Amino acid sequence: MDKHTFSRLGGSAINEIELQERLLMLDQIVVHHQRFLDLYQVIQDCHIFKKGAAILGETGAGKSTLFKTYESRYPKETKVKTVNNHKIEYDIVPVLRVELDSNSKPQNVASKMLQKLGDPFYDKGTEKQLTSRVKEHIKDAEVELLIIDELQHLIDTDTQRVIRKAADWLKQLLNDLNLPIIFGGIMEDAKRIFASNKQLDERFPYKPTFYGFKYVTEEQKKEFRGFLKSIDYQLPLAEHSSIYDPYLSEKIYYATLGIPRTLSHLLHHSVKTALKAGKDKLDERDLQYGFSLLSLETRPKVVNPFHGKAFDLKVALEKEKEKPSKN
Ligand SMILES: Nc1ncnc2c1ncn2[C@@H]1O[C@H](COP(=O)(O)OP(=O)(O)O)[C@@H](O)[C@H]1O
Ligand SMILES: [Mg+2]
Repeated sequence: MDKHTFSRLGGSAINEIELQERLLMLDQIVVHHQRFLDLYQVIQDCHIFKKGAAILGETGAGKSTLFKTYESRYPKETKVKTVNNHKIEYDIVPVLRVELDSNSKPQNVASKMLQKLGDPFYDKGTEKQLTSRVKEHIKDAEVELLIIDELQHLIDTDTQRVIRKAADWLKQLLNDLNLPIIFGGIMEDAKRIFASNKQLDERFPYKPTFYGFKYVTEEQKKEFRGFLKSIDYQLPLAEHSSIYDPYLSEKIYYATLGIPRTLSHLLHHSVKTALKAGKDKLDERDLQYGFSLLSLETRPKVVNPFHGKAFDLKVALEKEKEKPSKN
């Protein structure tokens, strides 16, 4: 794979417009790593063989990125038909992907679907009217696959209870439509939703997991480093950085725990500071600064590993877990 060519900065700070352009490119990097490809295949199989699957996992592992990638392979098309001598434009939507919002009611879910199906009056009507329009539009738009992401939002944020009304509505809709469905969401919450709704659960006998990367066995290290290497090729910098060298990849693993979202934040800050300093590749100091801007609330004892010295991942992870000594 060739590195995309970016103009060399050679020490002079980047201008604001180019900075924004390059950061946008950074945020759009999608690596087709092994787990990504395996789960892409799961979606494809569901689509072709008309089955359902729930792809659950840790937050930030890449579920929504995968769904967006799949959706983009089957783009919306506008067609024209003639009804009573009038030409009417309508949308063909082979893959309908919606993300649930927190504390969704059935109306909200229906509205979201209608909006994606191109209904200009997507938020007008009662729950019943919206629901029957969803069913009609899904047929007219020749939807072949439905992807419902962020399923965990069927849990109420205040009471932590499953929002039964929305869950039941969704179950009923799926029964009426008889379409292959992919659900995506955070593992623990989604499991609670399925546990509380047996009929919904039965429609999804297959629930593969989207994990973050691990870094214990040689195989896992190779995989994570391969991921970093693909990202390095696409970084919006003129030269290669060495983020996939064992020295830095181990530190990057510690900083991110193998979660692509955390990595993306780390790189965003690091690349930004490098570009502003007119650098053409990342070095450890950029990562040190990038790390200092991360908010890792769930890891109160995490330390900045990008200190320029040797680093032992196992020791560092154990140290982070230690209880404070009593004195
Ligand atoms: N395959 C990938 N390649 C590169 N970056 C990725 C990939 N998957 C996820 N990311 C990064 O992680 C971020 C969070 O991913 P997302 O798909 O929203 O996770 P989830 O839906 O599992 O919580 C993305 O915005 C992107 O920056
Ligand atoms: Mg998501």
